[in-house]
Formats: sequence, structure tokens, C-alpha cells
Amino acid sequence: MEELVIKQDRQGRVLVACLDNPPVNALGAGLRRQLMAVVGDFRRDESASALVITATGRMFSAGADIREFAKPPTLPATSLPALIEAIEDCDKPVIAAINGDALGGGLELVLGCHHRVAVSSARLGLPEVKLGILPGAGGTQRLPRLVGVGAALEMIISGEPVTAGRALELGLVDRVVEGDQLLSEAVRLAEATTAVRRTRELPVLGTVADIDVVAKRLGRRIEGLHAPGACIEAMRIAISGTFDEGLTRERELFRGLVNGPQSRALRHAFFAERQAAKVDGLPGDVETRSIRRVGVIGAGTMGGGISMNFLSAGIPVTLVEAEREALERGVGIMRRNYEASAAKGRLTGQQVEQALSLLSPSLDFAALGDCDLVIEAVYESMDLKKEVFARLDRVAKPGAILASNTSYLDINKIAAITSRPSDVLGLHFFSPANVMKLVEVVRGRETSAEVLATAMGLARRIGKVGVVAGVCYGFIGNRMLRVRQEQSRQLLLEGVTPQRIDALHRRFGMPMGPFEMQDLAGVDVGWHRDPERIETLRDAICAAGRWGQKTGGGYYDYGDDRKPRPSPETERIIAEFRARSGCVDREVTDEEIIARTLYAMVNEGAHILEGGFAQRASDIDVVWLYGYGWPRHTGGPMFWATEVGYEAIVKLLERHASRLGSGFEIAGLLRQPAAAT
Ligand code: CAA
Repeated sequence: MEELVIKQDRQGRVLVACLDNPPVNALGAGLRRQLMAVVGDFRRDESASALVITATGRMFSAGADIREFAKPPTLPATSLPALIEAIEDCDKPVIAAINGDALGGGLELVLGCHHRVAVSSARLGLPEVKLGILPGAGGTQRLPRLVGVGAALEMIISGEPVTAGRALELGLVDRVVEGDQLLSEAVRLAEATTAVRRTRELPVLGTVADIDVVAKRLGRRIEGLHAPGACIEAMRIAISGTFDEGLTRERELFRGLVNGPQSRALRHAFFAERQAAKVDGLPGDVETRSIRRVGVIGAGTMGGGISMNFLSAGIPVTLVEAEREALERGVGIMRRNYEASAAKGRLTGQQVEQALSLLSPSLDFAALGDCDLVIEAVYESMDLKKEVFARLDRVAKPGAILASNTSYLDINKIAAITSRPSDVLGLHFFSPANVMKLVEVVRGRETSAEVLATAMGLARRIGKVGVVAGVCYGFIGNRMLRVRQEQSRQLLLEGVTPQRIDALHRRFGMPMGPFEMQDLAGVDVGWHRDPERIETLRDAICAAGRWGQKTGGGYYDYGDDRKPRPSPETERIIAEFRARSGCVDREVTDEEIIARTLYAMVNEGAHILEGGFAQRASDIDVVWLYGYGWPRHTGGPMFWATEVGYEAIVKLLERHASRLGSGFEIAGLLRQPAAAT
């Protein structure tokens, strides 16, 4: 028997239908069918005067069941548009009692009701665009009839929800109440009214000019994306056509997008992120440790950024540095970063002070003794890290988790210096650490299940996406990055310019190219610092004092506007090094650049998977989406590779194998037929 996902109740003459489909009340086929039956019964039941639709749990509904998009429809299916139409058609009032977030199809269902009451904590939004689609159950046609064209398009294209308070101002809901009064208020309204206010019968509020304002403002942010253009088209029809014409076009646009590559990729990214939170091989009943205070060693850029994550989440931080001046500088930068966020309106002055009040800067290493987790963020040197961990082992309390923010170094060796390797792991944050959402959680040979689970939970608590990585040089992200950077530099020696390679990567959708990224991060990071020792092109660039943006020039020259300009000086260094190393200019196609940078990265990702250093291909995607700004609408490198086709990738890698370095080898995994990630 089909599981019941609608609970029914009756209060006098008012029927109450309650969506009960945990965890998020997704509007899957079963729920649609059952709600349709409830609506049918209500229409026939002469003793029922009104219907209230509400839900159990913390959400009203997260919308359509995204998992169904990739599956063939089950027949006979009740479509969401048909269900919403049936609700709107009722000639007795239907009231939405919005008990929590109403998103996507969940909000579209609400729009089809005749009256709307929401709890003050609810958020209402149409996030479909983030999945590469547009609201496909009337949202593009009903929303502008309630809130106006400008506000509707803003909600639809940004995908961001509005609060219940804002929804009330916009006319999206009729009333906002406190949580415990929701049902009584909805029933009271149901008893008091016979009015049937059909959204589709209202006029569209606004003109094409309102569309242009929003489209112009979003400009570059929506460049290359299919869904926002479709949203605009649907909105134009809402203005110029009838409601039914609008619905038909919306449906066509929805079908086109949902079967397209961008939506496939964006849906993959959605589930990949959630999958990454799941750690293979952990016992189901694993306990986590409670983290009440965090210690951070090193008040440099990374240490400061890492600290801010915890402070912002309300977790006290002890920040330890060896020199007073460095400590004061670090704390000063944190304050300035917070104040910059406040100036942009992202935080209030009070929130800034609240966060900073949780910070305890200290010059005393022993101050780390009462921390439940200590993260080391000192200079990248194994000797130094070993020294720090040996000291930490002496002062940290029993049960404290000891983490290194190393980007490359062997966590097992660091752990072995302590008397408690099972408490040690890597927590690799990405720069700027207070902004980038990724944390690679590096599982050492002896890291305990409890420590790993605690770290993953903590990542979520501070708003990060944690991805488990194994111990290998550069873990997941930087190991792949290294391949791309090396190939990019090699291409310079073959006569390709930095600007050509960067432009190709930006066109692909990366926020910046390999050389712009180097210049931003510092060309000198990891450099041996001996200007006399010039073995690579990078050595030559560093030896000339061109360390990137911070010295006014690296691969590019920079003015006060920080915009990269082609550098004659760098050209000269490249030409000199090229002559010295016996490389010659050659014709290089764009296809070759893509193969040697992006396909080579995919190949490295496949080696990482084969070596067991990532749990699954989609985890690698998450690393690149959140750590390096890989374009989400392509799903991440490994998903993208399945779309391009392994065969095509292998073919080009084989063609350029001789230029891909002496250790280059095509991963066996790519030689297999492309499998689902
Ligand atoms: N369909 C299917 N499963 C969904 C879902 C949906 N719409 N929304 C969430 N889930 C699943 C998640 O995959 C996750 O499953 P697992 O536990 O198996 O990993 C579970 O529900 C809980 O989700 P989260 O971990 O994300 O929980 P959260 O509290 O952090 O976030 C949320 C909740 C804000 C609703 C978030 O899940 C979310 O943004 N969901 C997607 C919302 C969305 O995009 N809705 C539009 C759907 S498309 C649509 O409705 C088209 C249309 O017009 C007809």
C-alpha cells in the first residue's frame, strides 16, 4: 500500500490537509496524487466550507522532488501544474498555512491557493534557477500578478527567498503570525471568508521596463546561463499574453531546460554537495565531540580567516602567535575585514563587536590548553609543523582535536610526532578562508571515526562544505591544480601568452585564469627563495621580484585598479628562459590548451579516485566548485568529463601525451566507458 504523505483533519466545516513527507515535504508523485484526491473530495463534500493546506516539520515544502527530473514519469501521473490548477479552480476558499520555508513548487502551490498565512520564520522563494530551470508550475505567471513584475523577476532570477515579513510587504502573503497561532489563524480565516481570490485572474502588475531594469542590473552574473534568459522570456509573456499562453510557454521553456546540460550539471552539483557530507565506513552510531572553544596557531592571512569562521558562528577562538607585532597586525586585519562586511551591509556593527568579543589573542602557547580543537596555520614547512605539533601535544588537553591547515604536507608524518595520532587530521581551508566555502577534511591513517565525524559536523556548523580527502601531495584540490599550473607554464615556453590561456579559462567559466590566480595567490608561495637558483620559469619570475599582485607585478603588471595588463618584463623573462631551456614557439590550438590544462586535471582526478584519496567522483567536483570557483553549470571537472565523454578526453590526452610530462599516465578509469558519477 502506498505510504500516506498527507494527513487529514477537520475543524468544524474546515478541512485541514497536512503535507507529511519528510525530510522536506518534496512534492513527489505520491504526494501530488494524494493531495489531488483530497482536493477532489473537498470539492465534492458539501459539508466542507474551506480547505487549509499546511505541513508538518520545519518546512512547508522544498518544491518538486528533484530526483524525479531524471526519471521517466510514472503513469498515470498528477502533474504539479494540474494539481495547482485544481486547487485554484475550487469555488470554495483554499488557504495556505505556511508553517516554514515554501520553495520552488512549494511556493507555486501556495500561489495557487486563494489566501496565504505564514509564520514569521518562514521564507518564500523560487530557487529553480539554481538548478538550471525556471519555475515550471505557474510561478512565472502567478508571482507577477501578486507582487509585480520587478519584484517577481528579482526573486525568480536570483533564486533567493524572501522573509515572511518582506512577503507581507510585497503582497505575497496576506498575514504573518507567530508559529503557534498559525493553524488557529488559518482556520479562523477559513471560517470567516467565502471569497475565492484566484491569482490567475489578477492583472499583471508592471511593464517590460521593469524587466529591463532587473536584467541590466544582473548583466554579467547571468552571462552564459540558460535559465535566467528563459525566466525573462516567461515574464515578457506574462505581460503581453494571456495567463494560459504564459503557462504554455513556461512549460515549454521548463521542458527544454530540464533536459539540457546546464540543469543536469546543476542538479548534479546539488546532490554532490549533500553526498559529500556522507563519510563512507563510519559506524552509524559514531559519537562526536563537543567543540566549545577553538585554538588557532598563526595570525597570518590563513589563521585570521580561519578564526573568523568560528567567531562568526559564535564559537570562541584563542588565537596564538609568537610575536606581538604579528598578533596585533593579524587581529587588526580581522577587524578590518569584519568592518568591510558591515560597510557592505552584510553584518551589523553589533554583530561585528559580538564576533570580536569572542576572540582571545595570546602570545602564550599554553593558552591553547583549554581548546577542544586546535588548528595550526603556520608557514608551510614540515620541520616547523612537526615542532608546533610536538609542543601542541604537550599543552593540548586530552580529547582535543589537533588539526593542520597544510595545503600539501603529509598529515601522517605530522600525526606521528604526537602521542595521539588518532586525534590528528588535516583541515585545509581555502583562501580567503573566511569566504571560500570549502574545507578539505584530511583523514590520516590513524584519524579516529569520532574525530572525522566531529570535523565534518563542525564544517557544516560554520557554514562550510567539508569534503573528506586522503593523504597525498596536495590532497584533492591542489594536486589537480598543480597539474594545470605546470602545464600552463609549459605552454608559455611553447609561445602561448598568459592572457590567451587565462581568457580561455575565463570563457570556460572559471572566475580567473591560471596566471591571474597565481598572481593573486602569490607566485612566490612555495618558492625556494634563492634568486640564483633558476631551474623553472617560476624561479625566473620570482627571482625578478615579480611575486604577483602584492609586488605590483607577476605574470601581469598591475596598477592601482588591480587589473592585469600584459607585461613586457614578463615577456622578456619568458623569452629568455625559453631560449635557455631550448624550447621553441609552435602552433598551439585552443583544443590543445584545453586538453593539457583541463583534461589533464580530469585525468589527475581519476588517479586520485583510483588511489582512494577521494571517496567518490562527485566529491572531487565539490572541491572544485567550492574551492576554486569551477563553473557550477558544468557540474565540476569529473561530471563535466562524463558530459564531454571519456573517449574524447583520452583521445586528446594520448595525442598530447609527450608534452604532458615524464610521469604522465592516462588513468585506467578514463579508459572505461563513462560511468555515472
Ligand atoms: N527534492 C528532493 N530532495 C530534496 C529536495 C527536493 N526539492 N530538497 C532537499 N532534498 C533532500 C536533500 O537531498 C537531502 O537529502 P539527503 O538527506 O538524502 O542528503 C534532504 O532533502 C535534506 O536536505 P538538506 O540537507 O539540503 O537540508 P537543509 O536543511 O540544509 O536545506 C533546503 C533544506 C533549503 C530545502 C535545501 O535542501 C534546498 O535548497 N532544496 C532544494 C530547493 C529547491 O531547489 N526547490 C525547487 C525544486 S524544483 C521545482 O520545484 C520545480 C518546479 O517549479 C516544479
